[in-house]
Amino acid sequence: MSGRTKKTAEAIASTLTNHEVSYLSIELTGKFIEKIKELDKFENNDYSAIETQFSGFNASGFDLIIIGMPTYGNFPPKVFGEILRRMGNLNGKNVVIFNTARFSGGKCLVYMKEKIEEAGGEVINQSKFRKLFWIGTKKAIQFGKQINEIK
Ligand SMILES: Cc1cc2nc3c(=O)[nH]c(=O)nc-3n(C[C@H](O)[C@H](O)[C@H](O)COP(=O)(O)O)c2cc1C
Repeated sequence: MSGRTKKTAEAIASTLTNHEVSYLSIELTGKFIEKIKELDKFENNDYSAIETQFSGFNASGFDLIIIGMPTYGNFPPKVFGEILRRMGNLNGKNVVIFNTARFSGGKCLVYMKEKIEEAGGEVINQSKFRKLFWIGTKKAIQFGKQINEIK
């Protein structure tokens, strides 16, 4: 909605110098009200507004997957389930998860972990980036550096 997850994801990606990285994003566009309307459509499993952004969301070619989501009402937006569906089988895949939030966010991360494990992935690291106002990149860079050391 306001680019906080994108900013965090890009900071993490920028640290992953030991790896070949593909960065794929799902972004809502337009004014705040238009984004809210797009989010509403997800509730009806209508992903037409972001369909083209899904290309490449297939886990098969990747050793490690890092997934970041915002927290809306204690959960990731419904598109999280669709992202998992498009990624396909996560069996044997290492997965790192993170979320951004303003007040809470722990429940959202627990939910994400559960769903990834249901899809066969193993969550090997996780982080919550919670800031009421300005979300900086310092913590994200520290987190990314840890991930960069994974062999
Ligand atoms: C509709 C909506 C619901 C939200 N619900 C929560 C929440 O339950 N807990 C929380 O800590 N922050 C909540 N927030 C704040 C967002 O989680 C936070 O600003 C997040 O970093 C947004 O990331 P984004 O800019 O990538 O969308 C909510 C924000 C919106 C717009």
